[in-house]
Amino acid sequence: MKVVAINASPRKEGNTFLLLNAVLDELKREGMETEIHSLAGKTIQGCIACYQCFKNKNRRCAVDKDSLNDFIGLMENAEGILLGSPTYFSDVTAGMRALIERAGLVARANDYLFKHKVGAGVVAVRRAGAIPAFSALNLFFHYNQMVMPGSSYWSIAIGRDIGEVKKDAEGMQTMKDLGQNMAWLMKRLYA
Ligand SMILES: Cc1cc2nc3c(=O)[nH]c(=O)nc-3n(C[C@H](O)[C@H](O)[C@H](O)COP(=O)(O)O)c2cc1C
Repeated sequence: MKVVAINASPRKEGNTFLLLNAVLDELKREGMETEIHSLAGKTIQGCIACYQCFKNKNRRCAVDKDSLNDFIGLMENAEGILLGSPTYFSDVTAGMRALIERAGLVARANDYLFKHKVGAGVVAVRRAGAIPAFSALNLFFHYNQMVMPGSSYWSIAIGRDIGEVKKDAEGMQTMKDLGQNMAWLMKRLYA
């Protein structure tokens, strides 16, 4: 069983990376194969509403000029999808928004490509706005007929400078609990 994590922060090894790894550590402990990929340095544009994906039905976005299709492939090949984003102006980053728009429409055009995979989101935040960002991730999973594990709180953690989230003990515990619940759920769905 594999979990692919996608980090939408432009800071490749920043706070979101630390949160994703806290979840992945628990998954590894439970015997899951894990991978982490970053959107940093990659310019992924938003959906242009060409709707070619509904005509092509080839499980890929028709706008094949950036690395979006690679990310769709990574998500397709895993049983679990873990998305992480910092909070930017009370939402996910532009990169994550582009991934949600295009991967979401391609999935819809191809009989719900991610149906019954397990999906979870984590968010880093300096002070406020994490919940809309967290909701954006969960709305993507829900729309795609995925199954979502819970945690002991919404999976957000507080910090501004790189590493600061580690001082948020409750936030870090939330990541651990999410990882354990994700593993629990995946074993019941896929073992
Ligand atoms: C453009 C931009 C917008 C941000 N907007 C918010 C915000 O709305 N609320 C907040 O609490 N922090 C905001 N932050 C701070 C980041 O969410 C915070 O530093 C986070 O830990 C960064 O995670 P990272 O290290 O994974 O990039 C913003 C940062 C940037 C660069």
